[in-house]
Amino acid sequence: MPTVAQTETKPGFRKTAETFTSGAKTLPQRYFVSPKIFAEEKEKIFSREWVLVGHQSQISKAGDYLVANVANESLIIVLDQKSTIRGFYNVCRHRGTRLREDRSGHASAIQCPYHAWTYGLDGRLIGAPHMDDVRGFDKADYSLHSVHLALWEGFIFVNLADSPTPLDECFAPLAGKFSHWNLPKLRSAKRIDYEVRANWKLIFENYSECYHCPGVHPMLSKISPYDSAENDLTEGPFLGGFMKINKGKSLTMSGNACASRLGDIAAEDFHRIFYYSIFPNVLLSLHPDYVMVHQLWPQSSERTLILCDWFFHPEAFKCAVGFHPEDAIEFWDMTNKQDWHVCELSQQGIASRAYEAGPYSSRESIPAAWDREYLRQME
Ligand code: FES
Ligand SMILES: [Fe+2]
Repeated sequence: MPTVAQTETKPGFRKTAETFTSGAKTLPQRYFVSPKIFAEEKEKIFSREWVLVGHQSQISKAGDYLVANVANESLIIVLDQKSTIRGFYNVCRHRGTRLREDRSGHASAIQCPYHAWTYGLDGRLIGAPHMDDVRGFDKADYSLHSVHLALWEGFIFVNLADSPTPLDECFAPLAGKFSHWNLPKLRSAKRIDYEVRANWKLIFENYSECYHCPGVHPMLSKISPYDSAENDLTEGPFLGGFMKINKGKSLTMSGNACASRLGDIAAEDFHRIFYYSIFPNVLLSLHPDYVMVHQLWPQSSERTLILCDWFFHPEAFKCAVGFHPEDAIEFWDMTNKQDWHVCELSQQGIASRAYEAGPYSSRESIPAAWDREYLRQME
């Protein structure tokens, strides 16, 4: 007859004794499940920091636009006639209506679907039917509200703060660091959207260590030794370093390079992948033959939308032979899903009453540093 194991203490759970003092621990449960903390993150982080919304190659012709949702604010990012990238709140100046409902597109002007007020690509109001009859009305007073926008290595960042610290100042630790990869020139061959049922911080913590790689990513571990990480940015909003790739290999399904090299990459970097997290919504993975970029968009305390792009050199697209973007895309689509799955499992366990903060290992110094930066920003 079966017996049942007795719990050691009743009722409730035996919490780990507070004797573990030598290292960092994971964040308490509330940071992963609390709607109140989620609202605070929107206010203190996503409304104040520079946030990635896309790459300049994604709006390359005048009138191309994309729509981004940052901390519940919908923004239109558009290339105007003078090749200037501009960012506007997606809010009509007449009665506030949402102007664009799609996520990207092309238009010669931005027209409101309600009463047809029309704005130029520079945000100026250029058409407002029957408003000439209104005494004192001046179109010049009703341009779209703009948002702070800046470029870093061809990537478009926005900032909702009234007077943000200039992006160049914030990104000083990365200045010139990736110039060999020709990032401003690159073009995305593919985007995949992932809806992940996990808190956005779990995605960062997962990306920041390869302690999980032998079990979760058997194929990746064969090409890139899980214990080969060498980090050079270990504190602050930018974290990461490189991992080795076995000689002659690439992170693709076939194991072969899938495109020509991205630029003037140093010989020792032919066998390295650089992984950096950029607080608060970017994962930047630089390979010799392609660059993968994840944008993280928290949807709730327990859901994250992840947009993943695979960028290649524009010349690679012209090569009839030797260009196989799908070889890398398939590899990372598989690997991404392996990661999202364990993040979802973590979310499920963390939501349990049995969860308590656990000790990070010596191979998890970067997630611990990421947590410290997060807590600093939440102070
Ligand atoms: S609300 Fe936009 S034109 Fe009336
Ligand atoms: Fe992973």
